[in-house]
Amino acid sequence: MATDPAPARRTSLHGEWSSRFAFILAVAGSAVGLGNVWKFPYIAGENGGGAFVLFYLLCVFLIGLPIMMAEILIGRRGRRNPVATMELLGNEEAGNPHWRLIGLVGISAGILILSFYSVIAGWAAAYILKGASGAFTGLDANGVSQIFTGLAESAAVTGFWHTVFMLMTIVVVANGVERGLEKAVRVLMPSLIALLLVLLGYSMVAADFSAGVDFLFAPRFSELTRDGVLVALGHAFFTLSVGMGAVMAYGAYLPDEHSIGKTAAAIVAADTGIALLAGLVIFPIVFANGLDPAIGPGLIFQSLPLAFGQLPGGSLVATAFFLLLTFAAWTSAISLMEPGVAWLIETMRLGRTAAAWLLGGTIWLLGFLSAFSSNLLSGFTFFRGTFFDNLDYLTANIMLPLGGLAIVFFAGWIMCRNSTADEIDPQAGRGYRIWRFLARWVAPVAVVLVFLNVIGLF
Ligand code: TRP
Repeated sequence: MATDPAPARRTSLHGEWSSRFAFILAVAGSAVGLGNVWKFPYIAGENGGGAFVLFYLLCVFLIGLPIMMAEILIGRRGRRNPVATMELLGNEEAGNPHWRLIGLVGISAGILILSFYSVIAGWAAAYILKGASGAFTGLDANGVSQIFTGLAESAAVTGFWHTVFMLMTIVVVANGVERGLEKAVRVLMPSLIALLLVLLGYSMVAADFSAGVDFLFAPRFSELTRDGVLVALGHAFFTLSVGMGAVMAYGAYLPDEHSIGKTAAAIVAADTGIALLAGLVIFPIVFANGLDPAIGPGLIFQSLPLAFGQLPGGSLVATAFFLLLTFAAWTSAISLMEPGVAWLIETMRLGRTAAAWLLGGTIWLLGFLSAFSSNLLSGFTFFRGTFFDNLDYLTANIMLPLGGLAIVFFAGWIMCRNSTADEIDPQAGRGYRIWRFLARWVAPVAVVLVFLNVIGLF
């Protein structure tokens, strides 16, 4: 392909978002999911709270936000799937098509993440029915924990719900009905926030709110390990959906006239707000009931039902909550699979349906390694623990930060200043200069330092 130093503005083959708000909804639908409600509380609990949360917030705003902006600007400039976009811009900016590798590694990360993500989403879906049946009413911590272990220790039930969730995801991706989901996000995301606020009311009145606030926000730096620092960094990527090209894929459809900075800031603020809200709901319940905050991936499943069991109309609240959580996970799952499907369609010349079933089927099979990690294969541990633990660690803490590092390095150092300014702010005002400083220096250096730190070199 010939290099073209001053390209005319490209248009996407698949149209554009109808409005900036539609784009925000799509990316927010991707970003807000199990990462906010399930993962953030459990890793904050495992890593001692306060100092971990502070470091996570720093990572989100100083690293995650500029990387999200880099993904959007690259996606919008290339207006293709992430592999093709990186190849095109690699050629255009550096005469080097191998930048496409970033797209390929990203697609692999999406596949690995979805394989375990679907298992947890399946648990959330299973809890919709448990809530509706009134199973939580009047239970104590012991009873709630038995319900959770009954689910996690059953290979058949966990595998069944993982299958259901993967089918839901495949069907949507196969039909390309993201536009319909966009409308649904518009209603369901505010509902999820409203329900979290109701639960916040419960936690303030009926649980140990001050202990929860103290745990989340009082920094105790001695409790933050080297590994905890890496987990906080990795989670900043995971929760914002950056580092693998998902946001890049959506950025391809963002109309030229919309501000990338404002858009990304709104998404990051919403995502962070929902995570903190979930933490403020869960930890007061944890402390009021003498639960161990470091209990692990089962934390929300063993704490929230205690509130549902005591609230008037709790069965209804529980049903609605897990329904909305499953939905939030669904919109995230779609964004994990979409880049791979788009790539299969364009390079293997498959139809969308075939591509979705092929990729989805592979992810479904791979997912059984995680579905069986809490039962049949629970004794089979290596490196970080079970298959589930290792997949989570490898993707969130290694693949996404490295992918994000490559993306932000490309945007900050490989792309010429005019290209990035053209997308972010042609006047290159203060906002642009701050972004460029974060993208060139702060984000890459911070990621490298955290890696050096965790291997003990710093
Ligand atoms: N951000 C989502 C969550 O917090 C998960 C997710 C969706 C994701 N798409 C992604 C994570 C892409 C990393 C990369 O639940």
